[in-house]
Amino acid sequence: MKLGISAAALLAAFLAFGSAAYAEDTLSPLHWQSQGTFGSYDQAALQRGFLVYQTACASCHSANALHYRDLTALGLTTEQVADITASIKLDNRPATLDDRLISALPKSQAAAAFGGAVPPDLSNIVAARPKGTEYIYNLLTGYQAPPADVTLMAKHYYNAAYPGNQIAMPAPLTDNAVTYADGTKATTAQEASDVAAFLTWASDPNLDARKQIGLRAVIFLIFLTLLAIATKRKIWRDVA
Ligand code: HEC
Repeated sequence: MKLGISAAALLAAFLAFGSAAYAEDTLSPLHWQSQGTFGSYDQAALQRGFLVYQTACASCHSANALHYRDLTALGLTTEQVADITASIKLDNRPATLDDRLISALPKSQAAAAFGGAVPPDLSNIVAARPKGTEYIYNLLTGYQAPPADVTLMAKHYYNAAYPGNQIAMPAPLTDNAVTYADGTKATTAQEASDVAAFLTWASDPNLDARKQIGLRAVIFLIFLTLLAIATKRKIWRDVA
């Protein structure tokens, strides 16, 4: 009996803990749904983030580890993805589901355009930077006028989040750089948050499945522990 109660209490604690994770991705306080212990990706944010990537980043940055067909994991149907790819031009042909997300600007030209700085592939950038999701957000919203005592290098911009504060990437986002199909207001901060969510997914597409399996495994182990305790008690009941 006592055992039953503690099992229920444990389960309740789990569910209460987990439920906080199902809030929408929000800007204030800065929070991405996927970051909660049991949090899964906010698919609406990922779809918006892909739109931002395609509109404001893909001219310079590739995300080579992804194929367009992978976008079905964002909750889009194959037909919807096919509609998207039909409007993306690669070497004078429309993209297909089997194309990788390449950049419009070849690396050789990029180096010349940005004084030797090459826009990195963004597939794994979130994993490659400490606190990657926040970093992408802070980088994209971190452009400022340089302080009076700072002299910028040629073709560089002042960015509060970038190590050294001088980056060769011009500020890629502005308010209303995209029009969201779901009616979300496209502020620079919203776009930065959404593309950070999208790039987090790109770096870790299996997060949802991993967390689900983990949760089931933990529940199973709790059950197994209770069973072992009950068995032990039963076996040793008659021993003085
Ligand atoms: C006009 C070209 C251009 C566009 C558009 C552009 N970038 Fe960049 N990006 C660059 C260049 C060049 C660099 C390398 C900067 C350097 O080394 O100083 C860079 C670097 C980066 C980095 C790496 C920073 C680091 O810590 O090393 C990230 C992350 C990034 N860009 C994200 C984005 C995102 C997200 C977008 C779209 C919202 C975007 N960029 C749009 C040119 C661009």
